Amino acid sequence: MPYELRAVRSAEDWRHLHEIRRSVLFTPERHADVEYDENHPDDRAEGNIPLLLLFESRPVGVVRLDVRGEAAIVRLVAVIASERGRGHGRILGALVEEEARRRGARTLFVNAAPDAVGYYEKVGWRRFDWNTSELQGIAQDCVQLRKDL
Ligand SMILES: CC(C)(COP(=O)(O)OP(=O)(O)OC[C@H]1O[C@@H](n2cnc3c(N)ncnc32)[C@H](O)[C@@H]1OP(=O)(O)O)[C@@H](O)C(=O)NCCC(=O)NCCS
Repeated sequence: MPYELRAVRSAEDWRHLHEIRRSVLFTPERHADVEYDENHPDDRAEGNIPLLLLFESRPVGVVRLDVRGEAAIVRLVAVIASERGRGHGRILGALVEEEARRRGARTLFVNAAPDAVGYYEKVGWRRFDWNTSELQGIAQDCVQLRKDL
């Protein structure tokens, strides 16, 4: 398979991850009031795994998996704009599920941006209010979904 989903460790991988998040998720259109923090403690917290998706060795997407025992939360999902609609998102979803299963998770949760709900539903997620206290800050307009592994 020409894909690799790998945990971000090298300085170069961190640079790619930040660049993709900035260009897709932390844009003035999406979050004009939020300044992206490259040193956010949540990226280094125990159980939180920032991941980079490579296609034919090129970085095309990112996701973070926050593992909490038998549950895991999928956060900050992005495929670069020029690469969308080619199936990378579907593969990203499948690979992050594999990673979550490998780490002992049985259920995945997400706070989805409203215009990404269609993507999640296409790949088997269902709407489910798993923790409404999460719906604040950058997640205030999000829709909560779950997927059993
Ligand atoms: C959502 C996102 C990750 C999907 O990535 P992608 O590479 O375009 O997805 P794929 O090409 O693998 O599409 C998988 C399926 O979902 C569908 N889909 C993709 N994006 C969709 C959307 N926004 N709404 C409805 N359906 C969508 C595709 O049509 C495809 O269905 P098909 O296989 O039946 O044709 C990407 O569009 C993205 O990064 N969006 C901006 C950031 C974002 O919203 N992230 C989610 C934050 S929670």
